[in-house]
Amino acid sequence: MNEIVLNHPLITHKLAILRDINTGTKEFRELVTEISTLLCYEATKDAELEVTEIETPLEKMQTAKLNEDNYAVVPILRAGMGMVEGIINVIPNAKVGHIGLYRSEETFQPVEYYYKMPDGIADRIAMIIDPMLATGGSASATIDRLKEDGVKAIKLLSIVAAPEGIEVIEANHPDVKIYCATVDKGLNENKYIVPGLGDAGDRIYGTK
Ligand code: URA
Repeated sequence: MNEIVLNHPLITHKLAILRDINTGTKEFRELVTEISTLLCYEATKDAELEVTEIETPLEKMQTAKLNEDNYAVVPILRAGMGMVEGIINVIPNAKVGHIGLYRSEETFQPVEYYYKMPDGIADRIAMIIDPMLATGGSASATIDRLKEDGVKAIKLLSIVAAPEGIEVIEANHPDVKIYCATVDKGLNENKYIVPGLGDAGDRIYGTK
């Protein structure tokens, strides 16, 4: 099992509001940001720290810091963009790389239309963000692409995951840990997660 599901009353509370059809754009965006920060908190639990000396107003002390430069946040366009703020709120110096994919009408496979990563991507810890892990197609293609560029440490952060998507990532990329706020029942015939929250991109951008 490569998925870590955040099991916390705050998450349950925030998800309940997020899922609600009556929640408006502003609140939806804010909740996506807050939940993303909580996912990031969990996903950095194993972060390596660098020993450093600082001086408090009282004395010098040895402590440790995160090397924020080690991180790249990789939103999958477009809904993934809604999660960026929540991550950089706590890792403000993380670089952000973008990937855009669409689904071919012929092959049904994800096709890349945009890809721009920060320098030295191979040596960074890549945190892929996409609020919905549905079929797993886009996330799996993104991981493939990052691995092609030599990235060795990859984590996937999603708010709502479907068992089908988790299975695809676990089969194709057993080395990638998935951090999610909930695992829902599954996909419907249109590949939407049920009960889910609808179209995350539309709800973040108010396009529907
Ligand atoms: N993408 C979404 O935005 N919602 C789903 O339920 C599935 C994929």
